[in-house]
Amino acid sequence: MDKIVVRGGVPLRGEIAVSGSKNAALPLLFASLLTEDECRLGQVPQLVDIRTALRLLHDLGVEYDWLSNSEVALNARAVRQLQAPYELVKTMRASFLVLGPLLARFGRARVSTPGGCAIGARPVNLHLEGLQQLGASIRLQQGYVEAEAKRLRGAHIALEFPSVGATENLMMAATLAEGTTTIENAACEPEVADLATMLNAMGARVSGAGSGTVTIEGVNALQGVAHTVIPDRVEAGTFLIAGAITAGDVFVRGARADHLGAFLHKLQEAGVQLEEHKDGIHVTCEKRPSSVDIVTQPYPGFPTDLQAQMMALLSLSDGRSMITETIFENRFLHAQELVRLGADIHVQGNSAVVSGVAFLSGAPVMATDLRASVSLILAGLAAQGVTEVSRVYHLDRGYEHIEEKLSRLGADIRRVKSEK
Ligand code: UD1
Repeated sequence: MDKIVVRGGVPLRGEIAVSGSKNAALPLLFASLLTEDECRLGQVPQLVDIRTALRLLHDLGVEYDWLSNSEVALNARAVRQLQAPYELVKTMRASFLVLGPLLARFGRARVSTPGGCAIGARPVNLHLEGLQQLGASIRLQQGYVEAEAKRLRGAHIALEFPSVGATENLMMAATLAEGTTTIENAACEPEVADLATMLNAMGARVSGAGSGTVTIEGVNALQGVAHTVIPDRVEAGTFLIAGAITAGDVFVRGARADHLGAFLHKLQEAGVQLEEHKDGIHVTCEKRPSSVDIVTQPYPGFPTDLQAQMMALLSLSDGRSMITETIFENRFLHAQELVRLGADIHVQGNSAVVSGVAFLSGAPVMATDLRASVSLILAGLAAQGVTEVSRVYHLDRGYEHIEEKLSRLGADIRRVKSEK
């Protein structure tokens, strides 16, 4: 397995560009299953998770072609398989999002349940209950969900929790249902709104996406589309922290303040200077950050996907911060690795008390999940000496060419390929 080796202490300077959003691109790729026509997606990032999604679509019978290194054309005319196997779903949970589109267009689907993952149990009950309300019969057989419905029919669905995945799966399913569906307590994330934009351009009638109530009037068929994926707000936030944690001066091209509200607010509260421009955000940080308390929440609250990175920054703050994680039950695996670098962090249940230290020192550390990996790189960029982050395959699931991008800002960072 590859390692990332960082020699810290270099203030990052210059411009860095944000790629297309992984979490938006995945459901958009799966939405291509809803039509016989060609769908073209632009600003698709080159990531392991995207390749996994394309492999799954290919196994189902979708033809795809990279038109450039960020534009992909997909055609689901000749879908011949209605099954997503365990081998793929266990490596990428978002594969579960093929269930809604397959069921809506073909009347049945068999999709493996994802199982738990490092950061929590992550069940799919809300997806399944919602599909049942749309009239699907659901059976659980040998680890697979077997779903059937001649034609889904519109329903009023009130989600117990605004799950991003459940909102997306149900929204896609409802586009081809008979009648109108309302999803109450829907997830409001920008990725959900991006999916609705693409579905509407395909001829769907979705309104309210991005708010807590989404209404979908079912139609008989959808057509092809050309759509550009929104910029990755988590990558943007990560780069803003990279600028701040190294006391650098960085312009993050493509960072959208309208998608990063609660996060930017907390950075400012910590004393990080931000300037919003039409095409990105400029970050500088002249003094040691101040401590701030963070509670992760569904959008528009502070995103769980930036919690680990913020912990890295706050471990160097001037004071004591409390970080509370409310979305996933086990998302503090990075805390013990940050402690190896000299951070002072105590985890108690779903809260972590971070007492800022004056400096971190490089050490070998291990990545445990995607966002944890990048928090260790951020800490390594600020630490004195060399930090070696092993098990970085997690990183390649969500960050496009990260070591090249950070190198261009002056970071001393390199990938050491495994010898295998
Ligand atoms: C998506 C993002 C992920 C992000 C998360 C929360 C993608 C591909 N992934 O994941 O990066 O961290 O949103 O912002 O977009 N839950 C249930 N039952 C369900 C579904 C979810 O109990 O049926 C729970 C989960 O266990 C978790 C919480 O709800 O504790 C949030 O999950 P959800 O919003 O569904 O996240 P994902 O869509 O899996």
